[in-house]
Amino acid sequence: MITIKSEREINLMHEAGKLLAATHREIAKMIKPGITTWEIEEFVDKYLAEHGATPEQKGYNGYKYATCASVNDVICHGFPQKIALKEGDIVTIDMVVNLNGGLADSAWTYAVGEVSDEAQRLMDVTKNALYRGIEVARAGNRLGDIGHAIQSYAEGEKFSVVRDFTGHGIGKTMHEDPTVLHYGKPGKGARLKEGMVITIEPMLNAGTWHMKMDQDGWTARTADGKLSAQYEHTLVITKEDPIILTEQ
Ligand code: MF3
Ligand code: CO
Repeated sequence: MITIKSEREINLMHEAGKLLAATHREIAKMIKPGITTWEIEEFVDKYLAEHGATPEQKGYNGYKYATCASVNDVICHGFPQKIALKEGDIVTIDMVVNLNGGLADSAWTYAVGEVSDEAQRLMDVTKNALYRGIEVARAGNRLGDIGHAIQSYAEGEKFSVVRDFTGHGIGKTMHEDPTVLHYGKPGKGARLKEGMVITIEPMLNAGTWHMKMDQDGWTARTADGKLSAQYEHTLVITKEDPIILTEQ
């Protein structure tokens, strides 16, 4: 069931989203060769607590951390680790903030120092792909319009779109209906309505879209070991452009 959010709920989610965006801005300043994703994890835990918020991912389906930290070939759900990031790495930090019961979800890929042209292009195209999806996320359009906008652009740039993980509705809990595919056909799927709150979070790979799962059951990697990037916003559907709740 896809729920329509009240103005009060949307306001709470927006406050969570602003805090999440501020957290990402702080992370952006921290990312450099030598830092570990464990230090980012500890920073996020502390920063959210200082601002009266909690990390919704911690404890979710047994996940242990506030953040997901996915380096290079990791598509998503990597664990924060006490391993230093190196010049040329790319790292996606994903988190869900709960502030007074309002939730917001946003992931961002960061370059560590100077990265290869290929890595930079993957990051740029993935971010653009998110905004291609956002452009068509409006009342009256369908979910397939979002997927198609992302897929046609990404594949035109010779990158592949991950199929195993999707965007989603979000509200009282992190994952609600609908499932938001990052590929699809225009005019297909559920119709978007004013007041729905969804995430769009394309993961693009430099090589194949297929993934392989680590033994830990969480860490999803590209099957061919090539790079993966991801950008995610939480947004409210309106009759016009959506309201991005996690804008940085
Ligand atoms: N934040 C992720 C998403 O975008 C969910 C992470 S799953 C968790 O949907 F278990 F790590 F919380
Ligand atoms: Co999400």
